[in-house]
Amino acid sequence: MGLRGKSIVVGVTGGIAAYKAAELVRLLVRQEAFVRVAMTANALHFAGPVTFEALTGQKVMYDMYGQEGTAMEHIRWGQEADLVVIAPATANFIAKYANGIADDFLTTMMLAASARILICPAMNTKMLLHPATRSNMDILAKRGVYIMAPGEGELACGTSGAGRLPEPEEIVEFVATVISKKDLEGLKIIVTAGPTIEPIDPVRFITNRSTGKMGYAIAGAAARRGAAVTLISGPTNIRSPLGVEIRSVRSALEMRSAVIECFSDCDMVIKAAAVSDYRPARFLEEKMKKGPGDLVLEMVKNPDILAEIGSLAERETDGRKRVLVGFAAETHDLIENARSKLNSKGLDMIVANDVSRKDAGFATETNLVKMLFREGGIEEPPLMSKTDVAELILDRAEAIRRKKLGLSR
Ligand code: CTP
Repeated sequence: MGLRGKSIVVGVTGGIAAYKAAELVRLLVRQEAFVRVAMTANALHFAGPVTFEALTGQKVMYDMYGQEGTAMEHIRWGQEADLVVIAPATANFIAKYANGIADDFLTTMMLAASARILICPAMNTKMLLHPATRSNMDILAKRGVYIMAPGEGELACGTSGAGRLPEPEEIVEFVATVISKKDLEGLKIIVTAGPTIEPIDPVRFITNRSTGKMGYAIAGAAARRGAAVTLISGPTNIRSPLGVEIRSVRSALEMRSAVIECFSDCDMVIKAAAVSDYRPARFLEEKMKKGPGDLVLEMVKNPDILAEIGSLAERETDGRKRVLVGFAAETHDLIENARSKLNSKGLDMIVANDVSRKDAGFATETNLVKMLFREGGIEEPPLMSKTDVAELILDRAEAIRRKKLGLSR
């Protein structure tokens, strides 16, 4: 998610959701960020510094006078960090920060901080909607502080409404969005993901093993980098990435309509979806009954969406120089098959996957890809997380786009 090596301070204040901060810290550390934690005295009632120390391997600051040596951590931490994220942020903390009150380590650090600041409010709905809290949040937003809207649902106080701390995964995504370079700002990118399903009758369909992970990783990374992303997705079980417009489709024909509709107003198409090449010739309105013998299902060919937009791109007259990226899922002759798809579908680049491997292709967290380019050459990165592969694909696709348009790197 682009957090590797980033320095992040997590500020924990005194609310019940402080327990979720431990998971947040764990996820940030897993993303290879350098994480330090500062707590208010009230937060100590809800979570223990030992937990955070174990997760980060760093000293946790909560007592300015008892713990600080000559290192001036209350000045340095917020200046050395790329981002300070306060999760959960109580109404009291927000009020103090908005008004410049600095009466403990965390609030003092905030006043001296030069890092970007993200606040994740979590509190009872009435407290959240109180005019004082709202105007304090307005003050902070006007100062350029990022505020993550709290979720709705059951609250610890027994009521239900707005005020829940978003899930740690969602906060990490927001953090990554705030920190990311915005090199794709102004671009419109279409990503397709997941399988298609081709119905036989009301209860049966034909599909494939794609889970959508690679396509969702690309869509999320492109959105973090500032692009306006439309994700045209077959059925998946993945949460939609932050800031991405999702268009849900089921069959290859539905996917085709959505892609064609969006194509004229885009700069890049990345087709990670595993599109069914065939569909049953007829959809049976009623459930098919078992007969005495075997069944032969007649299938007809689906349109090749990528080949179709490949020829549209070739004929483009608006000078947008769209970049087309395809995927090739192969079990054998990876390079030859991928090269032939690259040429026959009119692509700028193809990402080839050996789907017979256990650590690459469908339903894995990692991917081992080979990238082939229209202009020649193959790039063979090592086994990586799908998020890192996504970033790399976007880097290469953007470099191709800039080259086509004659822009400097
Ligand atoms: N694709 C598409 N429409 C189809 C089939 C595939 O747009 N009807 C796209 C996929 O999204 C992918 C690329 O074409 O980006 C290659 O898909 P793949 O399934 O690997 O190859 P096919 O062209 O279907 O060829 P084969 O199944 O014979 O390997």
